Amino acid sequence: MQKNYKRTLITAALPYANGPVHIGHLAGVYIPADIYARYLRLKGQEVLFVCGSDEHGVPIAIRAQKEGVTPQDIVDRYHTIIRDSFARFGMTFDIYSRTTSPTHREHASAFFRTLYDKGAFIEEETEQYYDPEARQFLADRYIVGTCPRCQNEHAYGDQCESCGSTLNPTDLIHPHSAISGATPILKKTKHWYLPLDQYEPFLREWILEQHKEWKSNVYGQCRSWLDGGLQPRAVSRDLDWGIPVPVEGAEGKVLYVWFDAPIGYISNTKELLPDSWETWWKDEDTRLLHFIGKDNIVFHCIVFPAMLRAEGSYILPENVPANEFLNLEGNKISTSRNWAVWLNEYLDELPDKQDVLRYVLTANAPETKDNDFTWKDYQARNNNELVAVFGNFVNRALVLTSKYFDGHVPALGSLTDLDRETLSELSSVRGAIERELDSFHFREALKEAMNLARLGNKYLADTEPWKLAKTDLPRVATILNISLQITANLTIAFAPFLPMSSERLCQMLLIDLPSWDDLGRADLLPVGHTLGEPHLLFEKIEDEVIEAQVQKLLETKAQNEAAEAKTPPVADPIAFEDFQKLDIRVGTVLECTKVPKADKLLQFRLDDGLGGRTIISGLAEHYAPEELVGKQVCFIANLPPRKLRGIESEGMILSALDAETGRLRVITPEQGVTPGSEVK
Ligand code: 2FM
Ligand code: ZN
Repeated sequence: MQKNYKRTLITAALPYANGPVHIGHLAGVYIPADIYARYLRLKGQEVLFVCGSDEHGVPIAIRAQKEGVTPQDIVDRYHTIIRDSFARFGMTFDIYSRTTSPTHREHASAFFRTLYDKGAFIEEETEQYYDPEARQFLADRYIVGTCPRCQNEHAYGDQCESCGSTLNPTDLIHPHSAISGATPILKKTKHWYLPLDQYEPFLREWILEQHKEWKSNVYGQCRSWLDGGLQPRAVSRDLDWGIPVPVEGAEGKVLYVWFDAPIGYISNTKELLPDSWETWWKDEDTRLLHFIGKDNIVFHCIVFPAMLRAEGSYILPENVPANEFLNLEGNKISTSRNWAVWLNEYLDELPDKQDVLRYVLTANAPETKDNDFTWKDYQARNNNELVAVFGNFVNRALVLTSKYFDGHVPALGSLTDLDRETLSELSSVRGAIERELDSFHFREALKEAMNLARLGNKYLADTEPWKLAKTDLPRVATILNISLQITANLTIAFAPFLPMSSERLCQMLLIDLPSWDDLGRADLLPVGHTLGEPHLLFEKIEDEVIEAQVQKLLETKAQNEAAEAKTPPVADPIAFEDFQKLDIRVGTVLECTKVPKADKLLQFRLDDGLGGRTIISGLAEHYAPEELVGKQVCFIANLPPRKLRGIESEGMILSALDAETGRLRVITPEQGVTPGSEVK
């Protein structure tokens, strides 16, 4: 049952500060959230719209490590880019803060501590994979190995992207660390778990019984999680980037990023409203809405509500209108593969086209299923809908008024049936848009707004006032009055969707934006009101502009393909006799040590079946010496000895260069053989 709330708190998923925002984020989360916030504000409701950057987590730490900078450098860089591009795009957040803010650190830490003190966590010691070279525990995503189901050699510790199986890191065959390439070892570590299983009865009742009205994609995903049975979830991690676990004996441990990020919604509210934030988070008269993408459903519908429930003093979301994904030109959007249209680049390359993107992404929003963005569709929607319908109608109404009535709103005369029908359709537009927006159907709501422009266009086409100017000027006056009233209504109807165009249209009409409740009225412009200069509301987008964007994507595709084709071509043929000259043997590693002051070199002592030999090999970046002791390796036995760092090296150890990771792996016989055996 719909309750009468006093205010609405809207949150939009906090984007990770490890890359700019792209069209997938905009279509899935930010545009619908902004439309909704603007809509409620236009209706005069009390609204708070909160967002910020999500700045913790393993990927940010790893990225910093790879770039040789600090994680703070990474998040500073992207927080600025994201914040500025959102502002240029016209997002109306009341606050856009970040999870590295002091308020957030403090609040998230206190939240954890409250739950800890209440005994809401389970403390458990488990064995986790640890990278002995990088000296750190490995997140599932950073353990790579062979999938036990499909034999894909590049499966991750949590999932095989080839066959789609969900995995545990210990399922992987030949696991290795994505950071150093080392074979991870299992090591004991203590963590805190939120026992989600204990919240299952509450969640079942609250979601499955009390929120049957949630979007079917959201409700369905929740049901399948709940039916699968909930497990305790770790809320801490072994990592040096994040908010320290505020408990004694938790050195080196931080809050799991998915524990601290949603608390960011609360901290950011607190940062903005230090004295009244609790009204927004603890008063039952506040309606809380989370706008997110489908990959965040479990965290916002199950984990975060369980956290809030465990704390006890917070309200729960009333709805979580999550969207599906947007693809780009038929392929999944990917930050790492640079397969995206980045908001900051879009704003630079297509200036003043914010509303065009808002229009296209809303008209094609992935509300019920994944959708595809193509530049051709972008162009077509701009040229055939914004320019040809909305812009064209407005322009004709204004230009004709300027021509026949010197830019003054003419008087209404007697009405025909068509006039009455048109006005009746105008009066129903508010209800139609509201019905869709109230149920988070943004595409349909936009369609209703567009139908108003279509109505105007059709009305002008049917009445053809330009043909009547010489014979029946009072009729022309009536037609233009009605057309101008429709035009004025378009400023309101489009205000939540295309705010910049709505504002420009107000300027052309020399009016302030009417209130939402005025939508549908046929007297928004008084007779005699002077209109401003007509300008084009939208411009046609030429083929060259679209081709340049498509070309940019084609270049990205070519770069990705080149990067993927790392397997080198086969070398020139050699004579068989040349091959026979090589004396390759198997030896057992007796000792292996790092060569002092040489980053890359390891010194081996091999049992070669011939009395033993020393070999220096450039494997130090790929193995910890102790990993190799006892292993059998293949080596070239008949190379002339050579001095490296003052040590005589008697041969070369053979290893494979992994085409994907660039790591070296020594070649080992599949079963142990007698040292000195020849490789044939
Ligand atoms: O998926 C993401 O991009 C996450 N950074 C969303 C976090 S939403 C919230 F919990 F902060
Ligand atoms: Zn697989």
